[in-house]
Parts: sequence; structure tokens; C-alpha cells
Amino acid sequence: MSLRLGPVLIGRDEISKRVSLLAGEIATYYGSQELFILPVLTGSFVFCADLVRQLPHCNHIIRFVKAGSYGSSIHSSGKVSVNGLEKLDIEGKNVLIVEDIIDTGLTLSTLLKAIKQKGPKDVKVAVLLDKPSRRKVELKADFTGFEIEDKFVVGFGLDCNEQFRCLPDIHIVSEE
Ligand code: IMP
Repeated sequence: MSLRLGPVLIGRDEISKRVSLLAGEIATYYGSQELFILPVLTGSFVFCADLVRQLPHCNHIIRFVKAGSYGSSIHSSGKVSVNGLEKLDIEGKNVLIVEDIIDTGLTLSTLLKAIKQKGPKDVKVAVLLDKPSRRKVELKADFTGFEIEDKFVVGFGLDCNEQFRCLPDIHIVSEE
């Protein structure tokens, strides 16, 4: 089965404008408070890089965590693995999880559970894309870039079998 790169769903200019607005919302919410920013590898690295450079305070702590449920291709395995939390000292801290996309919600709900066990003061989620029609667990991000329909998308950090991550726009991808 091969994958076909489809049309642009969200272009770079639209993404850029939305990320700036999200950064403004996040800055307003946290004010001058110190923040632990946890980008979820690998898909969120581009979004997070754009986001943090627009936050007014430059002394936030950034720790990457790894979570995923996609073994390969465009279908979730449903089994979520979380790594990188072992040495994370977030007790009493404000935590902002930065995720590329919420699909079924299984990845984020597993990650949220693990993070909350470490006793943070507050946990919020910033997500670039949300596919609410695919949800299997009830979950809503606190800061959402775009709601999209049930399509598999790539680009701007999101991949399909490690392909298409570096595209500057978000495209639809399909199997053929
Ligand atoms: P969930 O656990 O089903 O919510 O899936 C979340 C994870 O699946 C994301 O962090 C992505 O890595 C991956 N994912 C879900 N939908 C897409 C998509 O359309 N494109 C690329 N990755 C996706």
C-alpha cells in the first residue's frame, strides 16, 4: 500500500497567524508565572518551536516527552507508550503539554494521567490540531489551533511513517 500526498489543508500563513494568537492566549493565562513546557515528540517539535518563540518570558523550562500510539501507517495501534517522565520534577509546577494533534485522545489521556501522578500545580494542553469526530475518550485541549475533519494529515512536524514531517504546510494524505 502506498501513500499519496494530497492538497494543502492549512497553509503556512494561516498556521503562523493562529500560532501567534495561541501564544497570546497562553501568555495571558500564565502571566509572569514560571512554566514547564512539555512538547510531545516527535510531531509537536515544529509547532512548539514556533510557539515558545512568541511567549514573552524566555525562562520557561522545556522538557521533551515521548508518547505515541501509531506503530506505522495511518492507523493507530491503540497501545500508548509514554517515555521521558522518569526524571521530570514537576511537583507544584505549572505544566503546559504541547501536542501536535488529538485524534482518539488515547495518547493524551494516558500522558495526562502519568503527569498528574507527579503532583504538578496545574496542567494545561496546547494542541495544534484536533479531530473531535474521532474521539474515543472525552478530552478537550485548553488551547487549540484548528479543529479538522477526519482526515490523516502530514507536514509542519506531523508524519506518516516518518515521511512528510518537514513540509511547511499541512496536507491531507491518503492510502492508495
Ligand atoms: P490519539 O492517541 O489517537 O489521539 O493520537 C495522537 C497521536 O497520533 C498524535 O500525537 C500523532 O502522533 C498521531 N496522529 C493522529 N492523527 C494523525 C494525523 O492525522 N497525522 C499524523 N499523526 C497523527
